[in-house]
Amino acid sequence: MRRPKVARTLKALDRATAEFATANVALVPTMGALHEGHLSLVRRARRHARRVIVSIFVNPAQFAPHEDLATYPRTWDADVAALAREEVDLIWAPSVGVMYPDGFATQVVPAGPAQAGLEDSFRPHFFAGVATVVAKLFLQCRPDFAIFGEKDFQQLKVVTRLARDFDLRLKVIGAPIVREPDGLAMSSRNAYLTPAERAVAPVLHRTLKECARRISAGSPIAGVLADGRKTISTAGFALDYLEARDADTLAPVRARANGPIRLLVAARLGKTRLIDNHGV
Ligand code: PAJ
Repeated sequence: MRRPKVARTLKALDRATAEFATANVALVPTMGALHEGHLSLVRRARRHARRVIVSIFVNPAQFAPHEDLATYPRTWDADVAALAREEVDLIWAPSVGVMYPDGFATQVVPAGPAQAGLEDSFRPHFFAGVATVVAKLFLQCRPDFAIFGEKDFQQLKVVTRLARDFDLRLKVIGAPIVREPDGLAMSSRNAYLTPAERAVAPVLHRTLKECARRISAGSPIAGVLADGRKTISTAGFALDYLEARDADTLAPVRARANGPIRLLVAARLGKTRLIDNHGV
Protein backbone atom coordinates (compact mmCIF):
# COMPACT_ATOMS: atom_id res chain seq x y z
CA MET A 1 0.00 0.00 0.00
CA ARG A 2 1.48 3.30 -1.12
CA ARG A 3 0.64 6.43 0.85
CA PRO A 4 -0.77 9.03 -1.55
CA LYS A 5 1.17 12.24 -2.05
CA VAL A 6 -0.39 15.22 -0.31
CA ALA A 7 -0.26 18.68 -1.91
CA ARG A 8 -1.22 21.70 0.18
CA THR A 9 0.02 24.54 -2.06
CA LEU A 10 -0.48 25.30 -5.75
CA LYS A 11 3.26 24.87 -6.31
CA ALA A 12 3.20 21.38 -4.80
CA LEU A 13 0.06 20.54 -6.79
CA ASP A 14 1.69 21.65 -10.05
CA ARG A 15 4.82 19.64 -9.27
CA ALA A 16 2.78 16.51 -8.52
CA THR A 17 0.47 16.78 -11.55
CA ALA A 18 3.44 17.44 -13.87
CA GLU A 19 4.62 13.93 -12.99
CA PHE A 20 1.35 12.55 -14.37
CA ALA A 21 2.67 13.55 -17.83
CA THR A 22 0.20 12.45 -20.49
CA ALA A 23 -1.83 10.04 -18.32
CA ASN A 24 -5.56 10.70 -18.01
CA VAL A 25 -6.47 12.28 -14.69
CA ALA A 26 -9.74 11.97 -12.75
CA LEU A 27 -10.66 14.26 -9.86
CA VAL A 28 -12.98 13.38 -6.97
CA PRO A 29 -13.88 16.55 -5.03
CA THR A 30 -14.80 15.95 -1.36
CA MET A 31 -15.01 17.67 1.98
CA GLY A 32 -13.39 14.69 3.73
CA ALA A 33 -14.98 12.57 6.51
CA LEU A 34 -14.85 9.90 3.84
CA HIS A 35 -17.25 6.96 3.76
CA GLU A 36 -18.06 4.18 1.28
CA GLY A 37 -20.05 6.65 -0.88
CA HIS A 38 -16.92 8.73 -1.45
CA LEU A 39 -14.79 5.63 -1.98
CA SER A 40 -17.21 4.36 -4.65
CA LEU A 41 -16.48 7.59 -6.56
CA VAL A 42 -12.75 6.94 -6.21
CA ARG A 43 -13.19 3.44 -7.66
CA ARG A 44 -15.23 4.85 -10.53
CA ALA A 45 -12.53 7.47 -11.14
CA ARG A 46 -10.00 4.67 -11.48
CA ARG A 47 -12.10 3.06 -14.23
CA HIS A 48 -11.73 6.22 -16.31
CA ALA A 49 -8.21 7.40 -15.61
CA ARG A 50 -4.72 6.17 -14.73
CA ARG A 51 -4.22 8.94 -12.17
CA VAL A 52 -6.72 9.80 -9.46
CA ILE A 53 -6.74 13.00 -7.43
CA VAL A 54 -9.03 13.35 -4.41
CA SER A 55 -9.50 16.85 -3.06
CA ILE A 56 -10.31 17.32 0.61
CA PHE A 57 -11.45 20.84 1.38
CA VAL A 58 -14.23 21.87 3.76
CA ASN A 59 -15.41 24.84 1.74
CA PRO A 60 -16.50 27.75 3.98
CA ALA A 61 -18.13 29.49 0.98
CA GLN A 62 -20.93 26.92 0.77
CA PHE A 63 -21.94 27.10 4.45
CA ALA A 64 -24.33 29.79 5.70
CA PRO A 65 -23.42 31.42 9.03
CA HIS A 66 -26.01 29.32 10.90
CA GLU A 67 -24.86 26.06 9.29
CA ASP A 68 -22.40 23.42 10.52
CA LEU A 69 -19.00 24.61 9.19
CA ALA A 70 -17.39 24.62 12.67
CA THR A 71 -18.64 21.16 13.60
CA TYR A 72 -18.36 19.51 10.17
CA PRO A 73 -16.57 16.18 10.83
CA ARG A 74 -12.84 16.21 10.12
CA THR A 75 -11.15 12.78 10.03
CA TRP A 76 -7.86 13.43 8.22
CA ASP A 77 -5.86 10.36 9.34
CA ALA A 78 -8.67 7.90 8.56
CA ASP A 79 -9.27 9.65 5.22
CA VAL A 80 -5.62 9.31 4.18
CA ALA A 81 -5.58 5.64 5.23
CA ALA A 82 -8.73 4.91 3.21
CA LEU A 83 -7.34 6.71 0.14
CA ALA A 84 -4.06 4.79 0.48
CA ARG A 85 -6.04 1.53 0.35
CA GLU A 86 -7.68 2.78 -2.86
CA GLU A 87 -4.21 3.63 -4.24
CA VAL A 88 -5.12 7.23 -4.89
CA ASP A 89 -2.21 9.09 -6.45
CA LEU A 90 -2.63 12.53 -4.94
CA ILE A 91 -4.61 14.27 -2.22
CA TRP A 92 -5.20 17.97 -2.88
CA ALA A 93 -5.74 19.55 0.52
CA PRO A 94 -5.41 23.32 0.31
CA SER A 95 -5.94 25.49 3.39
CA VAL A 96 -8.67 28.15 3.36
CA GLY A 97 -5.89 30.71 2.85
CA VAL A 98 -4.61 28.92 -0.25
CA MET A 99 -8.10 28.56 -1.73
CA TYR A 100 -9.29 32.05 -0.79
CA PRO A 101 -6.26 34.31 -0.29
CA ASP A 102 -6.71 37.81 1.11
CA GLY A 103 -8.50 39.97 -1.44
CA PHE A 104 -10.32 37.06 -3.07
CA ALA A 105 -13.29 38.71 -4.84
CA THR A 106 -14.65 36.59 -7.68
CA GLN A 107 -17.63 34.27 -7.44
CA VAL A 108 -19.30 31.89 -9.88
CA VAL A 109 -23.06 32.36 -9.49
CA PRO A 110 -24.88 29.57 -11.33
CA ALA A 111 -28.44 29.79 -12.65
CA GLY A 112 -30.42 27.11 -14.50
CA PRO A 113 -30.39 23.93 -12.37
CA ALA A 114 -29.06 25.99 -9.44
CA GLN A 115 -32.40 27.85 -9.37
CA ALA A 116 -34.71 24.84 -9.58
CA GLY A 117 -36.43 25.64 -6.29
CA LEU A 118 -34.95 22.68 -4.40
CA GLU A 119 -31.77 23.07 -2.29
CA ASP A 120 -31.47 26.67 -3.51
CA SER A 121 -34.75 27.60 -1.78
CA PHE A 122 -33.41 26.50 1.60
CA ARG A 123 -29.69 27.26 1.16
CA PRO A 124 -29.69 30.39 -1.04
CA HIS A 125 -25.89 30.85 -1.11
CA PHE A 126 -25.01 27.17 -1.37
CA PHE A 127 -24.59 26.73 -5.12
CA ALA A 128 -22.52 29.89 -5.59
CA GLY A 129 -20.17 28.49 -2.95
CA VAL A 130 -20.11 25.08 -4.61
CA ALA A 131 -19.73 26.41 -8.17
CA THR A 132 -16.93 28.77 -7.14
CA VAL A 133 -14.89 26.11 -5.38
CA VAL A 134 -15.56 23.44 -8.01
CA ALA A 135 -14.51 25.84 -10.80
CA LYS A 136 -11.31 26.50 -8.84
CA LEU A 137 -10.70 22.78 -8.22
CA PHE A 138 -11.15 22.08 -11.94
CA LEU A 139 -8.73 24.84 -12.93
CA GLN A 140 -6.22 23.88 -10.26
CA CYS A 141 -6.19 20.13 -11.00
CA ARG A 142 -7.10 20.24 -14.72
CA PRO A 143 -8.63 16.73 -14.75
CA ASP A 144 -9.98 14.90 -17.79
CA PHE A 145 -12.81 13.46 -15.68
CA ALA A 146 -14.55 14.59 -12.50
CA ILE A 147 -16.75 12.23 -10.51
CA PHE A 148 -19.75 13.44 -8.48
CA GLY A 149 -22.37 11.44 -6.58
CA GLU A 150 -26.05 11.34 -7.47
CA LYS A 151 -26.58 11.70 -3.72
CA ASP A 152 -26.35 15.44 -4.35
CA PHE A 153 -28.45 15.28 -7.48
CA GLN A 154 -28.96 19.02 -8.00
CA GLN A 155 -25.25 19.65 -7.37
CA LEU A 156 -24.39 17.09 -10.07
CA LYS A 157 -26.56 19.06 -12.53
CA VAL A 158 -25.00 22.37 -11.49
CA VAL A 159 -21.40 21.21 -11.94
CA THR A 160 -22.21 19.48 -15.24
CA ARG A 161 -23.62 22.79 -16.51
CA LEU A 162 -20.62 24.70 -15.11
CA ALA A 163 -18.12 22.50 -17.00
CA ARG A 164 -20.08 23.00 -20.23
CA ASP A 165 -20.71 26.72 -19.83
CA PHE A 166 -17.04 27.51 -19.15
CA ASP A 167 -15.74 25.18 -21.90
CA LEU A 168 -13.73 23.22 -19.38
CA ARG A 169 -12.29 20.28 -21.26
CA LEU A 170 -13.43 17.62 -18.85
CA LYS A 171 -16.25 15.14 -18.54
CA VAL A 172 -18.42 15.19 -15.42
CA ILE A 173 -19.49 11.68 -14.46
CA GLY A 174 -22.35 10.91 -12.06
CA ALA A 175 -22.17 7.91 -9.73
CA PRO A 176 -25.04 6.08 -7.99
CA ILE A 177 -25.95 6.59 -4.33
CA VAL A 178 -24.30 4.23 -1.84
CA ARG A 179 -26.61 3.28 1.05
CA GLU A 180 -26.44 1.67 4.48
CA PRO A 181 -28.02 -1.81 4.67
CA ASP A 182 -31.29 -0.24 5.92
CA GLY A 183 -31.42 2.15 2.95
CA LEU A 184 -30.17 5.37 4.55
CA ALA A 185 -27.99 7.20 2.03
CA MET A 186 -24.43 7.41 3.35
CA SER A 187 -23.47 10.92 4.37
CA SER A 188 -20.78 12.51 6.51
CA ARG A 189 -23.63 14.23 8.34
CA ASN A 190 -25.18 10.91 9.47
CA ALA A 191 -22.59 11.03 12.27
CA TYR A 192 -24.67 13.82 13.87
CA LEU A 193 -27.75 11.57 14.34
CA THR A 194 -28.64 10.36 17.84
CA PRO A 195 -29.44 6.62 18.05
CA ALA A 196 -33.17 7.42 18.10
CA GLU A 197 -32.87 9.69 15.03
CA ARG A 198 -30.70 7.11 13.26
CA ALA A 199 -33.49 4.57 13.70
CA VAL A 200 -36.00 6.94 12.04
CA ALA A 201 -33.71 8.14 9.23
CA PRO A 202 -34.35 5.25 6.76
CA VAL A 203 -37.99 6.46 6.47
CA LEU A 204 -36.73 8.92 3.86
CA HIS A 205 -35.49 6.26 1.46
CA ARG A 206 -38.43 3.96 2.19
CA THR A 207 -40.86 6.77 1.35
CA LEU A 208 -39.02 7.66 -1.86
CA LYS A 209 -39.16 4.03 -2.98
CA GLU A 210 -42.87 3.75 -2.19
CA CYS A 211 -43.64 7.01 -4.04
CA ALA A 212 -41.62 5.82 -7.05
CA ARG A 213 -43.47 2.50 -7.05
CA ARG A 214 -46.90 4.16 -6.97
CA ILE A 215 -46.03 6.73 -9.65
CA SER A 216 -44.74 4.00 -11.99
CA ALA A 217 -47.95 2.08 -11.32
CA GLY A 218 -49.88 5.09 -12.63
CA SER A 219 -51.06 6.90 -9.46
CA PRO A 220 -51.40 10.67 -9.90
CA ILE A 221 -48.17 12.37 -8.80
CA ALA A 222 -49.72 15.11 -6.63
CA GLY A 223 -51.55 12.61 -4.41
CA VAL A 224 -48.52 10.34 -4.09
CA LEU A 225 -46.34 13.28 -3.03
CA ALA A 226 -48.97 14.48 -0.53
CA ASP A 227 -49.00 11.01 1.07
CA GLY A 228 -45.20 10.89 1.07
CA ARG A 229 -44.95 14.29 2.74
CA LYS A 230 -47.37 13.15 5.43
CA THR A 231 -45.40 9.93 6.08
CA ILE A 232 -42.14 11.84 6.45
CA SER A 233 -43.60 14.49 8.78
CA THR A 234 -45.41 11.89 10.90
CA ALA A 235 -42.14 9.99 11.37
CA GLY A 236 -40.73 13.09 13.10
CA PHE A 237 -38.93 14.97 10.33
CA ALA A 238 -39.31 18.68 9.61
CA LEU A 239 -39.76 18.47 5.85
CA ASP A 240 -38.08 21.03 3.57
CA TYR A 241 -39.35 19.50 0.32
CA LEU A 242 -40.45 16.32 -1.41
CA GLU A 243 -40.71 16.94 -5.14
CA ALA A 244 -41.02 15.11 -8.44
CA ARG A 245 -38.82 16.63 -11.13
CA ASP A 246 -37.71 15.98 -14.68
CA ALA A 247 -34.51 14.00 -14.16
CA ASP A 248 -32.67 16.04 -16.82
CA THR A 249 -33.89 19.61 -16.37
CA LEU A 250 -35.18 19.46 -12.77
CA ALA A 251 -38.38 21.17 -14.00
CA PRO A 252 -41.49 20.24 -11.99
CA VAL A 253 -43.51 17.33 -13.41
CA ARG A 254 -47.20 16.95 -12.74
CA ALA A 255 -47.87 13.83 -14.76
CA ARG A 256 -45.89 10.90 -16.07
CA ALA A 257 -44.78 12.24 -19.43
CA ASN A 258 -41.90 11.54 -21.73
CA GLY A 259 -38.69 11.76 -19.76
CA PRO A 260 -37.52 10.02 -16.59
CA ILE A 261 -38.64 11.48 -13.24
CA ARG A 262 -36.50 12.01 -10.16
CA LEU A 263 -37.97 12.28 -6.68
CA LEU A 264 -35.97 14.57 -4.41
CA VAL A 265 -36.31 15.09 -0.67
CA ALA A 266 -34.72 17.20 2.06
CA ALA A 267 -35.79 17.00 5.69
CA ARG A 268 -34.42 17.78 9.12
CA LEU A 269 -34.24 15.34 12.01
CA GLY A 270 -33.40 17.31 15.13
CA LYS A 271 -30.33 19.37 14.20
CA THR A 272 -29.37 17.22 11.20
CA ARG A 273 -30.47 18.00 7.65
CA LEU A 274 -30.66 14.96 5.34
CA ILE A 275 -31.18 14.84 1.56
CA ASP A 276 -31.93 11.90 -0.70
CA ASN A 277 -33.37 11.16 -4.14
CA HIS A 278 -34.62 8.26 -6.22
CA GLY A 279 -35.44 7.60 -9.87
CA VAL A 280 -38.93 6.62 -11.02
P1 PAJ B 1 -19.11 15.87 0.05
O1 PAJ B 1 -20.42 16.02 0.76
O2 PAJ B 1 -17.91 15.45 0.82
O3 PAJ B 1 -19.35 14.85 -1.12
C1 PAJ B 1 -18.32 14.60 -2.05
C2 PAJ B 1 -18.89 13.77 -3.18
O4 PAJ B 1 -19.32 12.50 -2.67
C3 PAJ B 1 -20.13 14.43 -3.84
O5 PAJ B 1 -20.03 14.27 -5.24
C4 PAJ B 1 -21.27 13.62 -3.25
O6 PAJ B 1 -22.41 13.58 -4.09
C5 PAJ B 1 -20.63 12.25 -3.12
N1 PAJ B 1 -21.36 11.41 -2.15
C6 PAJ B 1 -21.63 11.71 -0.86
N2 PAJ B 1 -22.37 10.73 -0.29
C7 PAJ B 1 -22.56 9.78 -1.26
C8 PAJ B 1 -23.24 8.52 -1.31
N3 PAJ B 1 -23.88 8.03 -0.26
N4 PAJ B 1 -23.22 7.84 -2.47
C9 PAJ B 1 -22.58 8.34 -3.57
N5 PAJ B 1 -21.92 9.51 -3.58
C10 PAJ B 1 -21.90 10.22 -2.44
O7 PAJ B 1 -20.47 17.41 -2.15
C11 PAJ B 1 -19.52 17.94 -1.58
O8 PAJ B 1 -18.73 17.26 -0.67
C12 PAJ B 1 -19.10 19.38 -1.84
O9 PAJ B 1 -20.24 20.14 -2.15
C13 PAJ B 1 -18.03 19.52 -2.96
C14 PAJ B 1 -18.54 19.02 -4.31
C15 PAJ B 1 -16.75 18.77 -2.57
C16 PAJ B 1 -17.66 21.02 -3.13
O10 PAJ B 1 -17.20 21.56 -1.94
